[in-house]
Amino acid sequence: MKNTIGIFVLCSISLVQGQHKKSMNTNATIDQKVEALLQQMTLEEKVGQMNQYNGFWEVTGPAPQSGDAQRKYEHLKKGWVGSMLTVRGTKEVRAVQKIAVEETRLGIPLIIGFDVIHGYKTISPIPLAEAASWDMEAIKRSAQMAADEASASGINWTFGPNVDIARDARWGRVMEGAGEDPFLGSCVATARVKGFQGETKADLAKANTLAACAKHFAGYGFVEAGKEYNTVDMGNATLFNTVLPPFEAAQKAGVRTFMNAFNILNGVPATGSTFLQRSLLKGKWGFDGFVVTDWASIREMMNHGFAQDGAEASQKAVTAGADMDMESHLYVKELVGLVNNGKVKESLIDDAVRRILRVKFELGLFDDPYRYCDPKREKQTVGSAAQKAIALDMAKKSIVLLKNENQLLPLPQSGKKIALIGALAADDNSPLGSWRIAADDHTAVSVVTGMQRYKGNTLVYAKGADLTVGKTTFIDELVFNTTDTSGFVEAIQVAQNSDIVVMVLGEHGFQTGEGRSRTQLDLPGVQQALLEAVYAVNPNIVLVLQNGRPLALPWAAEHIPAIVEAWHLGTTSGDAIASVLYGEYNPSGKLPMTFPRNVGQCPIYYNYHNTGRPANTDNNVFWSHYSDVDKSPQWPFGFGLSYTQFTYSKPLMKKNVYSKGESIEVEVTVTNTGSRAGVEIVQLYLQDIAASLSRPVKELKGFERIELQSGASKTVTFTLNDSSLGFYDNEGTYHVEPGFFNVFIGTNSQEVKAVQFELR
Ligand code: BGC
Repeated sequence: MKNTIGIFVLCSISLVQGQHKKSMNTNATIDQKVEALLQQMTLEEKVGQMNQYNGFWEVTGPAPQSGDAQRKYEHLKKGWVGSMLTVRGTKEVRAVQKIAVEETRLGIPLIIGFDVIHGYKTISPIPLAEAASWDMEAIKRSAQMAADEASASGINWTFGPNVDIARDARWGRVMEGAGEDPFLGSCVATARVKGFQGETKADLAKANTLAACAKHFAGYGFVEAGKEYNTVDMGNATLFNTVLPPFEAAQKAGVRTFMNAFNILNGVPATGSTFLQRSLLKGKWGFDGFVVTDWASIREMMNHGFAQDGAEASQKAVTAGADMDMESHLYVKELVGLVNNGKVKESLIDDAVRRILRVKFELGLFDDPYRYCDPKREKQTVGSAAQKAIALDMAKKSIVLLKNENQLLPLPQSGKKIALIGALAADDNSPLGSWRIAADDHTAVSVVTGMQRYKGNTLVYAKGADLTVGKTTFIDELVFNTTDTSGFVEAIQVAQNSDIVVMVLGEHGFQTGEGRSRTQLDLPGVQQALLEAVYAVNPNIVLVLQNGRPLALPWAAEHIPAIVEAWHLGTTSGDAIASVLYGEYNPSGKLPMTFPRNVGQCPIYYNYHNTGRPANTDNNVFWSHYSDVDKSPQWPFGFGLSYTQFTYSKPLMKKNVYSKGESIEVEVTVTNTGSRAGVEIVQLYLQDIAASLSRPVKELKGFERIELQSGASKTVTFTLNDSSLGFYDNEGTYHVEPGFFNVFIGTNSQEVKAVQFELR
């Protein structure tokens, strides 16, 4: 009987597939196939498509015999699982896919998800670092590279990009986004989506692309006090103008999935938010892909006090538009009953299943469910030299030069004694950063190894001090309080006997990322003491920072002559750092997040609103500031130096009055006045001086990455239009208002030259 049904269903599907081939890849034919399949499905099978399990057994070994894994295995065989995550490798994916395709009644293939956040096996810089490149082509290539590797390993869906705007460096996940700015964040979101999925919808059907996922929808980057998983409470002005634009950009770029978020937003858990998922995303924005929940976030709605039990949580989540349940195990348990007792309409289930099936069809999984499971391709692609070359290019472009007094950098290539100090200098694991589940541990090039390739100098390494004690893994809580200073003596000796000291200090890769919020933004452990002890004997220090968030290092900013922000740069970290230190690559990165002077300034960001008392005009205390620290940040958004210098002309506009709808052009000429070629990121900011809602003092609205030979000039023309000039009101309606605008152009958000125009 089972076989007969199987053959019948197979025939009807292949009939639909036949129709699909005739009218080539249009949405309509995919929708027809989806519809035909949906008609065959029982309620249980539909709900099954909405159920996602984390990999639960070593699939190349024996099938699980008991417990949770056995239950999940049974569900898989019954066709009650639509997706699995973190199963990886062609062999492993083929094994689970085989069960879904060959052992279930309808043979619907699984969609296989994975956190391909900054690379798969070959690890790219953390996303915050990549954003510092302001190079959208490089970012796209890096995502393409990751998609190529992951898809060669059986995966067809990544849980990225993370497009959460974040302003508080205490939050551990700032490493995972593109920083604090919605305009830069939107550009990066677009680049990443296209990198993962390809330029067009048809590219999704290629075997070397992945479906992307814009996350976490929405507001997660604004957890109170930067504390992980915390409450989010924000006004609509911030929601519409700051948080949502990168999500909308991802939707416009064609992202096929969204992930909702752990947090409550103004009292409503994002997972249960009809406003976010149904009204805005699927309604106003017209998104026709599907929404996956964050890990167990349906279940967590009970902790939020939003649902009494699993049934209520499921009812609220599905009603709000959460299509696939990641690891709450509630949809599979509750939804059939909820439909049968009339609490959930079956049309809601159908809507979710249609969306999920649509993406599976688009990926080509129904044409060949094993298309990502070619071991030959896996062997050739994963970890190849070509992948590493892309990661290296990205890593160099991500480095930001923060200070370079007396041109201490670049280092001379010969005849010098160089001391290399710090546990991170020899670390080949930490630079892989936080989201690197598929990478092999200890596969990053350390700074020691990178610098050793330059043979002209004498290089002596001393650790000085460990960074942390305790286990450093993805899931273990780290213990930071290293107090052991016994290695200082050796480090001091080595520094004393050297011409130049390179110190590599910062955070371990696992001190950032999910669950890694901090209350301090200093150098963990005894690293600050080590820095000061070495400085006392040899102040000729190049400080290389490795960290996943802005740090507050006022002492170093004041005393250390050269500072290089080198983040967690991934597999090729040490090579990229050495090539910048030795001047083979002239640094070009610019900060995508403001660096504070101390943690008390957080959240600190460049596009703030003026207060009623923005400046001290009467020489008294009654103005907006802290009384114990300078009002400015340590290093502003958009800041980054080069080994050459650039000068800017005054921005030029042909007219100073424009009508609504007209394109507005602003020109600036940039000249390389230094002695070597370099890349500059020319930035344009806008201020709507008076509007119906208070507007920020500056908002990034354009940038261009230009390369100039020594002595050369280039005129850059920016075009502003309605999409640059307007803003959302508190109801989410976009307005462009007449009035006066300031245009600021410069090398970072602070050092700018201004011009004004009027919009009528
Ligand atoms: C994270 C998501 C991630 C998911 C699956 C969650 O804890 O918040 O960003 O995609 O786990 O690993």
